[in-house]
Amino acid sequence: MADADSRSGQVYFDGRILDWCDRTHAPHDEALQRAFEAPARAGMPPIHVAPSEGKLLELLLRMVGAKRVVELGTLAGYSALRLARALPEGGKLWTVEFDPRHAEVARDVIAKAGLAEKVEVCVGRGVEVLPTLEAHGPFCVVFIDADKESYDVYGRWAARHVRPGGLLLGDNSFLFKNLLDDSARAAVMRRFHEEARAHFDTVNVPTPDGLLVGLKR
Ligand SMILES: C[S@@+](CC[C@H](N)C(=O)[O-])C[C@H]1O[C@@H](n2cnc3c(N)ncnc32)[C@H](O)[C@@H]1O
Repeated sequence: MADADSRSGQVYFDGRILDWCDRTHAPHDEALQRAFEAPARAGMPPIHVAPSEGKLLELLLRMVGAKRVVELGTLAGYSALRLARALPEGGKLWTVEFDPRHAEVARDVIAKAGLAEKVEVCVGRGVEVLPTLEAHGPFCVVFIDADKESYDVYGRWAARHVRPGGLLLGDNSFLFKNLLDDSARAAVMRRFHEEARAHFDTVNVPTPDGLLVGLKR
């Protein structure tokens, strides 16, 4: 087994390889491309998941037959489109966004993709909106991609409201290279990892910034 230092040097992909894989396995149709470009067009930060991560989310939802899904952090709706496309007839995604302007752009993107009936954009802070969604549970998947300071709270909520055999998905689980720092934010993210293990069978997928995947016991 490689030691910690040699493992830090093990990077087998570069931008060109990632682009080729995105085009080969996770190509965009018109609606996905519109969603992908929406943040830049609207003057919002382009901090959505990458195409391959979006496709991974879609496949994971299909693998567990997800019908009711919660997303924290909508931005312009790119990952929401990926999640919603995995849902069967009658399935539903509640996606929570703090910034009303982001929510407005996302609603437009989602409507243009023909997914308005399947997706509800809920405006507010995740910690305040989540309790209002509980009556729709239990949920098949909770995908966390909002404020990193609340990941432990979101993870605990998911542990209570995801059905057995459902998924907890946490993006940026490496915390932008800061997971092992001495900051309060890093402590929250480590707590999120550690607490998830108590209720989910977990793995950290080494996407560029990490994706924690947990299967509910
Ligand atoms: C990384 S972006 C989400 C990207 C999106 N999941 C995608 O891949 O297309 C994070 C979003 O979370 C929102 N956000 C920040 N704090 C929040 C909070 N407390 N509750 C809900 N949303 C929040 C931000 O406004 C931003 O739009």
